[in-house]
Amino acid sequence: MSEIVVSGIRPTGKLHLGNYFGAVQNFLKLQETQTCYFFIADYHSLTTHPTPVDLSSSVYRVLAENLALGLDPEKCTLYIQSDLPETAELYLFLNMNAYKGELERAASFKEKVRSHPDNVNAGLLTYPVLMAADILIHKGTKVPVGKDQEQHLEMARTFANRFNRLYNCEVFHEPFAFSLGGSLVKIPGLTGGGKMSKSAGEADSIYLDEPADELKKKIMRAVSDSGPTEPGSSKSPPVQNLFDLMNLVCGKDVIQHFEKSHTEGTIRYGDLKKQLAEDMEIFIAPLRQKITDTLSNNDYVAKAAKIGAEKAHESAKKTMREVRDTIGIRKF
Ligand code: ADP
Ligand code: TRP
Repeated sequence: MSEIVVSGIRPTGKLHLGNYFGAVQNFLKLQETQTCYFFIADYHSLTTHPTPVDLSSSVYRVLAENLALGLDPEKCTLYIQSDLPETAELYLFLNMNAYKGELERAASFKEKVRSHPDNVNAGLLTYPVLMAADILIHKGTKVPVGKDQEQHLEMARTFANRFNRLYNCEVFHEPFAFSLGGSLVKIPGLTGGGKMSKSAGEADSIYLDEPADELKKKIMRAVSDSGPTEPGSSKSPPVQNLFDLMNLVCGKDVIQHFEKSHTEGTIRYGDLKKQLAEDMEIFIAPLRQKITDTLSNNDYVAKAAKIGAEKAHESAKKTMREVRDTIGIRKF
């Protein structure tokens, strides 16, 4: 059986360096060798009620950024979730066999109940069912996502198996979470935490279209420490973060130079940050340019969305014909 890759991209606005190395680069590799369906998960984002203007501009932005970074409408199927309403139909069918108890036990649901007790809606409860529909509609088997999505994948397997058992059929295959190369990359942020994240505030993330002067300022303000206490002392977590970021964009000789001065206890973090800022600018500049160009090219983005929707339809139509037939919908 050939593998089908499916993954959803949350329309949460600008992409940062963590998203690039942790997600986009995987997609770029996968589209070269696998049958891939990538989509902007705008239905899902309604579970937390974004306003219409925010939603449509975020979807546009995330689609344009992914295109700019190299997702190719010819090599993969890149579409907007709501352009494939069959997903909503499959979600409805799967909901008939998804039980309140199991949905309430999902860690993501419990977390949302804690953080937003005033907005515990049915969409939130059935979020994993919609996610299963996204994957199963293309008969996806490999789902490149982070560890936080493992439980959702387990639920998708439950729904797929339950459907097959209930209707005594083999319509769906089991989907599994996976990451290319086995281990997950984790890009640290600038404020000393373990992972670059939008939720850690503006100062933490390096956005891929960060203007040059802003990029430099952010890096110069990055959290470090007061310097090695004595030669040979180990690196504090925020300083290790800066070295990890250097590893992404600086040459070997530069890294060796700062490793040596840290070991000797003579390092000046101002110099390290200046070098990191320069090399980061060299890395980011072409990405920034491509993103700016693509964002302003409405025709190209709209055309890509149309191609994506058509390709996604082709695949979904086949599955839904089978599903409706199996359930007994429109038999005559
Ligand atoms: P954020 O934490 O900034 O809101 P998201 O959760 O929207 O980022 O991340 C979208 C994708 O990017 C996910 O697949 C996630 O695993 C990946 N990603 C996000 N931040 C990082 C990071 N710091 N290092 C590696 N991958 C990341
Ligand atoms: N829940 C995923 C996230 O938060 C996004 C998503 C929606 C998804 N549908 C999907 C991921 C289907 C993989 C497959 O990141």
